[in-house]
Amino acid sequence: LSSTFTAENEPMLDYAKGSPETAQLAETLEQYKNPADIPIVIGDEEIRTGPVQRQVAPFDHKRTVATFYHATPEILKKAIDSNMKARVDWERRPLQDRCDIFLRAADMISTERRMNLIATTMVGQAKNVYQAEIDATAELIDFLRFNVQFALSTTSYQPISTEPKVTLNSLVYRGLEGFWAAVCPFNFTAIGGNLPMAPAIMGNVALWKPSDTAVLSNYEAFKIYREAGLPPGVINFVPADGPTFGDTITASPHLAGINFTGSQATFKRIWRQVGENLDNFINFPRLIGECGGKNMHFVHPSADLDNVANNTVRSAFEYNGQKCSACSRLYVPESMWPKLKERILSILSEVKMGSPMDRENLVTAVIDAKAFARAKSYIDFAKSSRDLTILAGGKCDDSVGYFIEPTVIVSTDPKNKLMAEEIFAPILTVYVYPDKKMMETVELSKNTSPFALTGAIFVQDDAAKAQLTDAFRFHAGNFYINDKCTGSVVGQQPFGGTRQSGTNDKAGGPFYMTRFTSPQAIKETF
Ligand code: SER
Repeated sequence: LSSTFTAENEPMLDYAKGSPETAQLAETLEQYKNPADIPIVIGDEEIRTGPVQRQVAPFDHKRTVATFYHATPEILKKAIDSNMKARVDWERRPLQDRCDIFLRAADMISTERRMNLIATTMVGQAKNVYQAEIDATAELIDFLRFNVQFALSTTSYQPISTEPKVTLNSLVYRGLEGFWAAVCPFNFTAIGGNLPMAPAIMGNVALWKPSDTAVLSNYEAFKIYREAGLPPGVINFVPADGPTFGDTITASPHLAGINFTGSQATFKRIWRQVGENLDNFINFPRLIGECGGKNMHFVHPSADLDNVANNTVRSAFEYNGQKCSACSRLYVPESMWPKLKERILSILSEVKMGSPMDRENLVTAVIDAKAFARAKSYIDFAKSSRDLTILAGGKCDDSVGYFIEPTVIVSTDPKNKLMAEEIFAPILTVYVYPDKKMMETVELSKNTSPFALTGAIFVQDDAAKAQLTDAFRFHAGNFYINDKCTGSVVGQQPFGGTRQSGTNDKAGGPFYMTRFTSPQAIKETF
């Protein structure tokens, strides 16, 4: 490995009917028919104590896919101690050695372990095979390889020494003095795999707290890291209940950083807790947060209608609107709406909803009972509100799984809560604006929600494109022109939001890795 190592995006398999990968996947899915019993892992020790938790299949909630245990404060303290012991050697290991382990993990996922990650993401998080392939294998492999590339390139910088025979200046890229807490979401197995792995590459140790609704797939990734050579204790796998986890990590003087993806409310709670404990820490903890969005597609009258319709349906409804990047509000000029409406409804009439085991189902079930109740409450609100009209969908059925029909709602009020609040479900709200009031509508759209994660404009007119691009300069960490606002690719569109969407540290980009190093500048005089 040299500092010029170049990563490439992992090619995706297409899982066509009758293909070898489809047969292999069917076989692998059989392995997960019975619930897995997933331990807490600290160092080399597997711990199975405490109240038993269940992860169920969202599309069939009678089916338990895994049982696991919540770490108590005592167990979490033990995990932190184990991290702190492991970091002594790990931080001293040459960067290239650490990179080799994670590149081996990437190769294992690319080959013999691919199906395990796909299958566990399908049954546990209700992704169909295509969404699982994008996430749990391609994106996770990309994170592993690109993080290595960025780790090597960002640490290759050495300061100048004007008279090297007299004075030598150097920068030694150390891991942080303490442990990281990786607080992971359910919606991307790749993010679960990335949050503890990126700090570890840079010589840090971490607690991996998976989401309770993604323990099965996250554990699969954890096992692969260990089998690839990650020493015990560098990453400890600790499912835990959120408040207990937050209280315990912020009570430790060794907390070095939190790498978080989840809700804005939880990130704020953790940040406040860190603030309250500032006198207790040896170092100022670094806080990295990715916390949601209320992402929009803004359509100009010059836009290509088919392009808008296709991309909006995909962006709003793929994986049930549960990507933090998903489009959940659409602004359309009056002159275009009748035709666009027709086109969107026609595409939507072909969209199928059902089990993720059937590759034809673009929409599956939302993740759990809480997500179902939340989505349903917005649909119920729409039914009772005079400002809102349900144009398509609106049915909710949790008798077998947590199914919310892909729903399109038109709002006559641009500030309605459906235009402002993150719902995280297959619900798209449309506001039709008077063509003459485009820039007014742009200004209004920017301040309707506190988020600024992703956004897209659809426009063919060059002057309007420049005007809109400038107007949205602070209103989307990831901004798309004539493309959907989902589907960022590691190394191609580094990902992260501004404003209340997060700290915009851009996972999948080079600066991300610098957050996990605390360099020491050394001047030696001869
Ligand atoms: N990176 C994903 C996307 O862009 C979301 O996390 O869709």
